[in-house]
Amino acid sequence: MQESIVRYNRYRYLWVALGLCAAAVLAYALQDPQEPPNGGTALGYTLGTLGALLIVWLAWFGVRKRQYSSTAGTVQGWLSAHVYLGLALILVVLLHSGFQFGMNVHTLALVLMILVVLSGIFGVYMYIKYPLRLNENRQGAGRSDLVDQIDDIDRRAKRVAGGLPRGYGELIHSGINRTVVGGSAWAMIAGRDNSQVVLPTGDEYTVVANPGQEAALDWLAEQQSRSMDAETAAKMAELSGLLRNKRKLLERLREDIRLQAMLEVWLYFHVPLSVALLAALVVHIVTVFVYW
Ligand code: HEM
Ligand code: HEM
Repeated sequence: MQESIVRYNRYRYLWVALGLCAAAVLAYALQDPQEPPNGGTALGYTLGTLGALLIVWLAWFGVRKRQYSSTAGTVQGWLSAHVYLGLALILVVLLHSGFQFGMNVHTLALVLMILVVLSGIFGVYMYIKYPLRLNENRQGAGRSDLVDQIDDIDRRAKRVAGGLPRGYGELIHSGINRTVVGGSAWAMIAGRDNSQVVLPTGDEYTVVANPGQEAALDWLAEQQSRSMDAETAAKMAELSGLLRNKRKLLERLREDIRLQAMLEVWLYFHVPLSVALLAALVVHIVTVFVYW
């Protein structure tokens, strides 16, 4: 994946972007020196228009990504072009403004654009760091398999608990119902485990936190140490074994979800910032034509 974004077609879009930068710098260096460079000169308008077209095209990637039937190039090719031309955009716009900034909507557009680009760089970093995970996540493989295995363990645990006193059934059922995977974006990224379980304590039942199935396993170990009868002890040991396997599977599932959340969360900056940029750009262009 990272190979194809960065090196796509022997760095084709890196060369296109460098060519664009070189042409813009050359035109900037050769322009008429009578007026200080700014967005209002002929070159300023040209570079501004080029920048605005690039931004609209970059934002169009959100649409292109979802058109699976389109024949206009591969998504990888588009993404490679997106990254390199998105980076070239910074230079084009800086030259457009003649390196002039102020407390105005023009500079707001520039700042938003830089934030979009920075979030884009973070996205590429994530893609390079976790390319395999991303592919696995994309296909949804692994995830459903883990869930199936956990279901299977749950079913077996219920069966074993059926042959034990009522408290065990409650432990297993509540442990299943109160196991939490996912949750808020932050809970997913932090990989926090907010699971609970209902423990039989004397004649009562108490709800306790059960991260890593720890509380349920401790309770079982305690009962096991008190158990006199070999058959019951064997069933308890089987339950403990099942819960330990479940703990491992849940850990993998949470890690999987955590990675996918990280791979997605940056888009919650990239995309809304792009929308804000488009809005600021429209205001910039309209005010320029109204007041200039
Ligand atoms: C059709 C596209 C565009 C046109 C016609 C245009 C036009 C202009 C004009 C006439 C100016 C001079 C205004 C002044 O000095 O007060 C200007 C300045 C500027 N433009 Fe654009 N522009 C365009 C696209 C963009 C884009 C895409 C960006 C950045 C995202 C941008 C950012 C700026 C900045 C930062 C300035 C300098 C503001 C300052 O001097 O304080 N422009 N633009
Ligand atoms: C002003 C410039 C930019 C705009 C307006 C823009 C806008 C967008 C939009 C709308 C998407 C589609 C997201 C979606 O709908 O899922 C996207 C995707 C993406 N952008 Fe940008 N982008 C810009 C610059 C950049 C830059 C400079 C980089 C990298 C250095 C970058 C990296 C990415 C990546 C990696 C994706 C792919 C996300 C995915 O397929 O999961 N972008 N961008």
